[in-house]
Order: sequence, then structure tokens, then C-alpha cells
Amino acid sequence: MSSLKGKTITVVGSGLIGRSWAMVFLSGGYKVKIYDNKAGQASAAIAEIKKQLEELQQARMLRGNLSAAEQLSLLSSHDDLQQALEGAYFVQECVFEDLEAKQTVFQEVENLVKENVILSSSTSCLMPSNVFSGVKNQTRCIISHPVNPPYYVRLVELVPHPKTHETVMDFAYSLMTDVGQAPVRLRKEIDGFALNRVQYAIIAESWRLVQDGVISAKDIDLVMSEGLGMRYAFIGPIETMHLNAPEGIEDYLQRYSEGIKRVLTTFGPVPEFSGEAAARITKEISESIPGDQEHLTARRERRDQLLMGLAKLKK
Ligand SMILES: NC(=O)c1ccc[n+]([C@@H]2O[C@H](COP(=O)([O-])OP(=O)(O)OC[C@H]3O[C@@H](n4cnc5c(N)ncnc54)[C@H](O)[C@@H]3O)[C@@H](O)[C@H]2O)c1
Ligand SMILES: *[C@@H]1O[C@H](CO)[C@@H](O)[C@H](O)[C@H]1NC(C)=O
Ligand SMILES: *[C@@H]1O[C@H](CO)[C@@H](O)[C@H](O)[C@H]1NC(C)=O
Repeated sequence: MSSLKGKTITVVGSGLIGRSWAMVFLSGGYKVKIYDNKAGQASAAIAEIKKQLEELQQARMLRGNLSAAEQLSLLSSHDDLQQALEGAYFVQECVFEDLEAKQTVFQEVENLVKENVILSSSTSCLMPSNVFSGVKNQTRCIISHPVNPPYYVRLVELVPHPKTHETVMDFAYSLMTDVGQAPVRLRKEIDGFALNRVQYAIIAESWRLVQDGVISAKDIDLVMSEGLGMRYAFIGPIETMHLNAPEGIEDYLQRYSEGIKRVLTTFGPVPEFSGEAAARITKEISESIPGDQEHLTARRERRDQLLMGLAKLKK
């Protein structure tokens, strides 16, 4: 992949995720052209990225081998899509999470790029077969789903369209590795991909426990942050099984699988996430963290600071 240094990546959509992708690609030494269909938005994104890169440099948390100034010199903003796509070999789409918007963007982009350019979407919840339904050559389409904030949380889920070429998956995999992200491959599309399916399982059971009066919202959050989360920052559920019995995973299954199945059959139906339980849970979390911008921003900054420290530790 080092032969790709100096190559150009176009980021379409300059919101939260578009700006984050731009910073990740810049850190790997790629030229990044950022486009937004709202006039002035892409150049505003550059100002924001500049500020963030300088802060990261100050905090000695800048990724990659280039200085903030060197990374910035690789970045340009465009209000014209055709100009933004000139010279690109990889396009990362980051527009609103709206199926029609994404379908339109990919049709426009496909008409403006050469046949070997890879079309990649950041969608969190839409299926590749829908996002790329209007694209003529679907073999070059892929979803590269990041996690917020991608600068510290490196996972990228690579999800193929049913027609995606294996070489395109390989290519995206090496690009993501090259810029320091942690890619995983899904072998086929599935609603929610892998991350959100696991996340929603956790949300559902946490919600049920609070809804049913078993535990407080504050305490279920501690079950994750002081319990499971401590391990999960370094090892996943399968390795956890393997390590949690003296003789490894087979031993674990012998000892615990009956118990796991027994508990799993007591999980209730999908929660409604509304009504009395929602009001109660909202009230409880809002008492510890009021839902106004000032408090939420402060908590997000705290989260990002802590994630920064964790990312450092994991290196
Ligand atoms: N925010 C997250 O936590 C997160 C995490 C992973 C993936 N994503 C996905 O990333 C994508 C972008 O999310 P976001 O949070 O950055 O949204 P956002 O609202 O912050 O940014 C969207 C940007 O796209 C621009 N835009 C809209 N239509 C466009 C078009 N046709 N052409 C060019 N630009 C256009 C908007 O002007 C805006 O600047 C979504 O698909 C979202 O699901 C978001
Ligand atoms: C930074 O340089 C080191 C050593 O030359 C190299 O291994 C690494 O891949 C580089 N990182 C990036 C993001 O280019
Ligand atoms: C379709 O995309 C693949 C992958 O980028 C490319 O190799 C192939 O040449 C494209 N086919 C056509 C007909 O453009």
C-alpha cells in the first residue's frame, strides 16, 4: 500500500464523520479532497480540521508521521463535485443518513470517476444492496462503517454488496490498515452489521433490567464501565470464554453453556423504549447529566479525553 502514498481520496459530505475521515486519511499521508453540497460547508470543515489537528499536535496525540501543517497541506475543499473527484482513486461518502440522498450521490459520483475507483459509504444503518442499487458497477462498492469518534475508536466494519469483488474488500482492508484503523470484514450484508447488532443486544437487556426495576440506570452503566467494558477494551467475548475456564473454551462450554442458555431464555421481548419506562430512565440520566448542550458537550469532551488515553494505552 505504500505505493499509494500521495494518492487522492475524496470525502463527500463534510459533517462530523466526513471531517473525521479526512483527518484519518491525512494522518496516513493521503491527499484528501473534501466536498459538500452546502456552499461554504467544506471550507468551514477545513478550518475546523486545522483547529483540531493543531490541538492534537499540542497534546502529542496527532496520528501519523506528518506534522499538523504537513497534513493540512494535503487537504483541499471543493464546492464542485467534479473538481473534488478529479484524481481520486477512493471515494468515501459521508452525507446524511438518508437512502435517497446516498443513492443520488453514488449515481452522480459514478458518472464522474474512472472505472477502477472504489465507491465507499459510511452508512451506519442502510444495507449495501439498497445504498448502491442505482450504481451500474456494483463490484466496486463497499460500506466502510466507522465508529464515532474514528480518530480514537479505530474499528471499521467493511460490508460488501452481494456483487462486491473480493479484491475491492482486500483493497479497502489494506487502505484502512495503512491509515491505522482496525478493519473487520463482514462476509455478507446483514441489518445492523456486527457492531450495532451486539450494541443493540446490550442496550435491550440493560433497558429491560432498568425497566423492570432490577437495577438503576446509573448502576447498569457501571456494570459496563467498571465490569465488562474493562475487559472488552482488550479482548472480545470469544476470547473471554476461552480465558475464563482453566482448560479453555471447550472447558468453558462444558461448565457454563447450560447456564447461559437458561438465562438467555429468560430475556423478554424487544422493549418498546417508550412510555413510563422511557420517562423514568430519561429522568434518571438527566438528573446526573442534564440534557442541555453545555452538559452534553462537557461529557463528550470527557469521553474523548478518556478515549484518547485508552488509545494511547492500547498502542
Ligand atoms: N455520527 C456518527 O456517530 C456516525 C458514526 C458512523 C457512521 N455515521 C454515518 O456517517 C454519515 C454522515 O453522518 P454525520 O454524523 O457526519 O452527519 P452530518 O449531518 O454531521 O453531516 C452530513 C454532511 O453531508 C452534507 N451533505 C448532505 N447531502 C449531501 C450531498 N448530496 N452531497 C454532499 N454533501 C451532502 C451536509 O451538508 C453535511 O455537512 C451518515 O451516513 C451516518 O450514518 C455516523
Ligand atoms: C510512520 O513511519 C513508520 C516507520 O517509518 C511506519 O512503519 C508507519 O507505517 C508510518 N505511519 C504512517 C501512518 O504512515
Ligand atoms: C467494475 O469495477 C471493478 C472494480 O473496481 C473494475 O475492475 C472493473 O473494470 C469495472 N467494470 C466496468 C465494466 O467498468
